[in-house]
Amino acid sequence: MPEPRPPELEALAARRPRVELALAPDAACVAAFHEQGFAAVPRIAPDEELAWLAELYDWLFAERRGAFRGGYFDLARRYDAPGEDLLPQLLVPELRVPELRETAFWRNGRAFAATLLGVDPDALRGWGHMIRKPARVGAALPWHQDEAYWDPAFRYRALGCWLTLDPATPESGCLRFVPGSHRGGVRVHRHVGDDPSVHGLVTDDVDETRAVAVPVPAGGAIFHHCRMLHSSGPNTSASVRRAYANEWQLEPVPEAHPEPRPWVAAGKQAWDAREVYSR
Ligand code: NI
Repeated sequence: MPEPRPPELEALAARRPRVELALAPDAACVAAFHEQGFAAVPRIAPDEELAWLAELYDWLFAERRGAFRGGYFDLARRYDAPGEDLLPQLLVPELRVPELRETAFWRNGRAFAATLLGVDPDALRGWGHMIRKPARVGAALPWHQDEAYWDPAFRYRALGCWLTLDPATPESGCLRFVPGSHRGGVRVHRHVGDDPSVHGLVTDDVDETRAVAVPVPAGGAIFHHCRMLHSSGPNTSASVRRAYANEWQLEPVPEAHPEPRPWVAAGKQAWDAREVYSR
């Protein structure tokens, strides 16, 4: 049985606005996704829903706990280290707030993902994570491919749908991409600071001179392939940059010849040894 939600969260969840905004990718969006590996859309959800999402987001981060034990941590520092969070992440918030699956953001994300990946929307499963870059101290997220975090024993057909609740600018830490990098394999990664107790991964196999920064207005989103090389800079602005990403994927299929990803095993060992699990 999931534990009951605090009354304040219960009331906030119940206030989800019922406003529809059904969107679909146009031909240019589909072409950009296939050619470059990413596509930005200026708007993915209605204003009322964005306001509710922002309020819910702030509530969840103020609480500093995950939707499950250990589901909240700083991506840029050692797990559960004391002190100020520089890049806190909250995994799978919809486990605690299933109302997040009722949003236009969720529906549009699924619809876009199905078209961009060329698959049946009903075959896609989604899960979310929220990454917060606090004003002035928000840390950079170095170059990585999302698939590098995943078990190499499986093959994936997947993309991320990255919504920003605040203007994402070069100053606030917008995403950067290396166009076309989704076509290659998963590159060699390591944990930030070569410490598997830091969740964030980084690859040194990247030609930064080819990178492009992709600013997005509040309420906009970027869809990117799971092998897309991407990063984001620190937040040097005076405002928070709140990102809420959903991953959309087909059921992964076993990979006949998995490539070694030793950083995944090292990370799992550090994750399992977290103090939060022994309390
Ligand atoms: Ni990523």
